[in-house]
Amino acid sequence: MSRPLLFAANWKMYIAPGEARAYLDRFLAIDKPRHGRTVAFFPPAVSLETTAARLRGHEHYLAGAQDVHWEPKGAFTGATSVALARGAGAAAALIGHSERRHLFGETDEETNRKMRAVLDGGLLALLCVGEKLAERERGETEAVVTRQLRAGLAGVKAGADLVIAYEPVWAIGTGRNATPSDAAVVHAAIRVVLVSLGFGRDTRLLYGGSVSAGNVEQLLAEPEIDGVLVGGASLDPDVWAGVCAAQG
Ligand code: 13P
Repeated sequence: MSRPLLFAANWKMYIAPGEARAYLDRFLAIDKPRHGRTVAFFPPAVSLETTAARLRGHEHYLAGAQDVHWEPKGAFTGATSVALARGAGAAAALIGHSERRHLFGETDEETNRKMRAVLDGGLLALLCVGEKLAERERGETEAVVTRQLRAGLAGVKAGADLVIAYEPVWAIGTGRNATPSDAAVVHAAIRVVLVSLGFGRDTRLLYGGSVSAGNVEQLLAEPEIDGVLVGGASLDPDVWAGVCAAQG
């Protein structure tokens, strides 16, 4: 089945508000919006409001948070609730990015709490899953991804508005992307888990990890790859527009 494409830019800890404004002026001048493709931007929290404001009124673009806290409010220094992210204009949130899991020690249980908070708050949730290199070498890829999915989606209603992003940790920022057929094998396994949990075939599955203008078309040629989640190649508006021009 053909699902709408999603091109997601994860700016990580780059691009201040003034830079975001200049970036989006350039991107919106050169990108050609098209039916059946959404481009999502995940700026750092301080740049979220500027990014969302610049995209407001553009049907095919949205802004989202890179992470949220599950509590609605309280004394949680440095954290952003779903309501705060929404108030800044977020329509979506990344949850369980491998950098949150492995650099900040986020557990499967915390990822699940965040998923439920994002969905309860009416935002689109992008749940990130993926194995480390040692896990792949031990043949544990499917087991790790299945565990992350089952834990992340525990208590989430089938039919909820979510997207799964498969990002093998060894492919992130390394210039070494999974081959389209490697990614397709894992995407097929993810689909089996989603179906077993009651999710329909309309749930989109993204690939992330060293995506570039040079490999995006081949990745999107796989029927189970419905878009990409991109770090490095999303930091320059011209380069990112080149990635987003892929037809899929
Ligand atoms: P790179 O595209 O830089 O490999 O980063 C991928 C990623 O982590 C996107 O969330």
